Amino acid sequence: MAATVERSEALLLSEYGLEPKGRIHRNPTTAMLYTHALANKEGVLAEGGPLVVDTGVHTGRSPKDKFIVRERGSAQRIWRGDVNRALEEEKFFGLRDKVVAYLNVQPVLYVVDAFAGADPAQRIGVRVITHRAYHALFAKTLFIEASDDDLDTFEADALVLHAPVLEAEPEEDGTRTGTFVALHPSRTEVLIGGTQYAGEIKKSIFTVMNDRLPLEGILPMHCSANVGDDGRAAIFFGLSGTGKTTLSADPERALIGDDEHGWGDNGVFNIEGGCYAKVIRLSRDAEPEIYKTTHTFGTILENVVIDAQGRLDLDDASKTENTRAAYKLEQIANAHPDKRSGHPSSVIMLTADAFGILPPIARLSRDQALYYFLSGFTAKLAGTEIGVIEPQPTFSTCFGAPFLPQRPAVYAQMLGEKLDEHRATVWLVNTGWTGGPFGE
Ligand code: OXD
Ligand code: MN
Repeated sequence: MAATVERSEALLLSEYGLEPKGRIHRNPTTAMLYTHALANKEGVLAEGGPLVVDTGVHTGRSPKDKFIVRERGSAQRIWRGDVNRALEEEKFFGLRDKVVAYLNVQPVLYVVDAFAGADPAQRIGVRVITHRAYHALFAKTLFIEASDDDLDTFEADALVLHAPVLEAEPEEDGTRTGTFVALHPSRTEVLIGGTQYAGEIKKSIFTVMNDRLPLEGILPMHCSANVGDDGRAAIFFGLSGTGKTTLSADPERALIGDDEHGWGDNGVFNIEGGCYAKVIRLSRDAEPEIYKTTHTFGTILENVVIDAQGRLDLDDASKTENTRAAYKLEQIANAHPDKRSGHPSSVIMLTADAFGILPPIARLSRDQALYYFLSGFTAKLAGTEIGVIEPQPTFSTCFGAPFLPQRPAVYAQMLGEKLDEHRATVWLVNTGWTGGPFGE
């Protein structure tokens, strides 16, 4: 039986040109991934049960090493520039061959089949193939798990080939450095290498959704969402660190999701199945729900400092300011079982104003809302991107520029239409500094 299963897994991978020499584990359990991660020294166990890992040199995303392949099928719609750097298609295939060759000789490969999109009508099947137990666990945690029935008919619409230790050769591969996160839009295929930062996995699929959903009339959003008992939903746009995760984990409201959502004809749905919270100096009293996840089996803690006895020090930023917890949405007591709501009645734009000029809160007209959405004035907070060590004022269009493959006007126009149709109230909330700039 086991041999038959392995043979069918091998067949499944041969579709991608993979001919692995080692074992293949498809949709392994959390227990198995823990066991492997610990045996391979990919991480250690902390009190309460989280798996604590070190991401190495890359403790945040590498936006300058993210590429969108230049290819015919998507050429018209890709917004080229600093965010969506071009990689020639032939370079992509060269790099792909290297990733495949690398994965082929690993002793073990993990295949995680899951979904992006909590609305069954809009979800896509995501297949992540990696040789790392920790990254397989991350994918299992952040995406929406497929049931046994789903797995019988599962089709992978998007593929991530993940070889975090393999470095590109810039001259030969057309990359900037050894690091690469390369998306081929028409193949819906992502190659990741030269970085162990797991956030690249979730954000590359978010980029896929940001490309696909508008084609179906659905607005993809870099926002969190929650809903009250009265059914009134709120969404919170904002760059990493501006308060999305914290504000959405409101004990009085059901949590829909902390980072990536779609807004379609039926309302708002989470794209993910998990959360990825910043945990530096996390307070047990101020954020009890999130705090609890840092001491729970199943959580992955990235770059959190731990002592020889397995005790965590959430205040220690010696590895990075960007320490993270990845956990299933269900670990939050009031998580919404469906990860969906109706149309939001409140749209909140979170801006961390490092200059301290914006008021704490302002109600926006429709046009002001679109202006702020397009300009995306905020600050990048320390750590999430390589090289950012203190709040850096920035204009991140749609509050999520690094993840937008298409032009900002595409998303802004859709937001305008949704606001008109559903008459949501829009607020600008300053979660940064008031009365003086950062440092004062
Ligand atoms: C994130 C980000 O990590 O937005 O969620 O950078
Ligand atoms: Mn995010």
